[in-house]
Amino acid sequence: MSNPATPPAVGVLDERPPLTFPPGFLWGAATAAYQIEGAANEGGRTASIWDTFSHTEGRTVAGHTGDVACDHYHRLSDDVRLMAELGLKSYRFSVSWPRVQPGGSGPANAEGLDFYQRLVDELLANGIEPWLTLYHWDLPQELEDAGGWPARDTAARFADYALLMADALGDRVKYWTTLNEPWCSAFLGYGSGVHAPGRTDGADAVRAGHHLMLGHGLAVQALRTAVPQAQLGVTLNLYPVTPISDSPGDADAARRIDGLANRFFLDPILRGAYPDDLVADLAKVTDFDHVHEGDLAVISSPLDVVGINYYSRHVVAAPVPGEQPEAYWRDQACWPGSEDVRFVTRGVPVTDMGWEIDAPGLVETLRRVHEEYTDLPLYVTENGSAFVDEVVDGAVDDVDRLAYFDAHLRASHEAISAGVPLRGYFAWSLMDNFEWAWGYTKRFGMIYVDYDKQTRIPKSSARWYAEVIRRNGLAAE
Ligand code: FCB
Repeated sequence: MSNPATPPAVGVLDERPPLTFPPGFLWGAATAAYQIEGAANEGGRTASIWDTFSHTEGRTVAGHTGDVACDHYHRLSDDVRLMAELGLKSYRFSVSWPRVQPGGSGPANAEGLDFYQRLVDELLANGIEPWLTLYHWDLPQELEDAGGWPARDTAARFADYALLMADALGDRVKYWTTLNEPWCSAFLGYGSGVHAPGRTDGADAVRAGHHLMLGHGLAVQALRTAVPQAQLGVTLNLYPVTPISDSPGDADAARRIDGLANRFFLDPILRGAYPDDLVADLAKVTDFDHVHEGDLAVISSPLDVVGINYYSRHVVAAPVPGEQPEAYWRDQACWPGSEDVRFVTRGVPVTDMGWEIDAPGLVETLRRVHEEYTDLPLYVTENGSAFVDEVVDGAVDDVDRLAYFDAHLRASHEAISAGVPLRGYFAWSLMDNFEWAWGYTKRFGMIYVDYDKQTRIPKSSARWYAEVIRRNGLAAE
């Protein structure tokens, strides 16, 4: 960005008195390895489940793959320079497991590690705190071939990989997230199959969810010893789940979806137990015999921070007997045992993903985690929106995305005022990227990427965010 101090495209900041965040609030932006790096076959990297999946016909829109993506692997320094121009205090990235440990077992690949060492060093040299996510969905294909996350051994492999990263970067990286959104890995990857590896078995999805959390717990224990000064956490995608009416049937539908979407992960990780009602709901899917003695103690190993990704709200209604509801959440098979719950759209404004824009839901979510689960510091590790962007005279004036960020930052501030120890916020995403099954057709970035030329254009939202960071706040309502 040529001049980060350029006033924002919309005049809100200058017209209203400032709304200030607590000192030291960690302003960041996030990305993920497979979504931006490209260089899929370089530097000793082997295939992940997303390489296999995206190269399988019919799995992604227009057959898009992450082979090149934003070519970030080759443009690391330019991209860090853009982050510095934005004034980011922190950058959340993920490590590609098959780049640093090809095949998912055995020794480290020095060339792969070197990429992340350079990234971290350049971030630190620019005063940007690196925030490392170990697993943002790119399981080495060999581990999937050996059973994937439904297989218990994958959890142990994940802890080994965590240690390998601790050896390489433990001296420089303070913030470590084990998993990004295990709900997606488990229920989209193994339930509905709309994400890699594309398997469709409800019981496998539940097993995968458990083994992901077991891997998280084992990794936390390993990292705790290897990097005692680290701040360890996990990132969950959480949704308020609201019944469309207060009828008992609708309320029960909301309870079920809340169980699968939120409490499946919150309760074991932060309370050391699966909720009884969830286990009962899943009885026709699995008897939970994959849960071994001692697992929940590992899974609930103490953390330092909790990361929350927030995008939208689920509004649900009771099943209608004899009717299969239209798949609202991509495919109903991602709700094992509750496939017949209906997802309702209320006609409120949505993003280009079709997700309802609901900033008050972020306040609800943050308050719930704090008030019902934990006193730990919380971070919004992702929040953002896809909208159709247009380049006009070399600029992208993304007013809708800017308004989305503005509303959700106000919500974050409201949560802080209500007593939530929210310590930071990461915009999703730093730049447009490979949006999984949607390929390059959905743009979430504050920076526009021209995928043919691999040029970057900071959008209005990026200039605005730079100003928010500079002021440590925004305008009051
Ligand atoms: C989240 C993912 C992230 C991105 C956003 C839009 O579920 O963590 O990689 O796809 O959604």
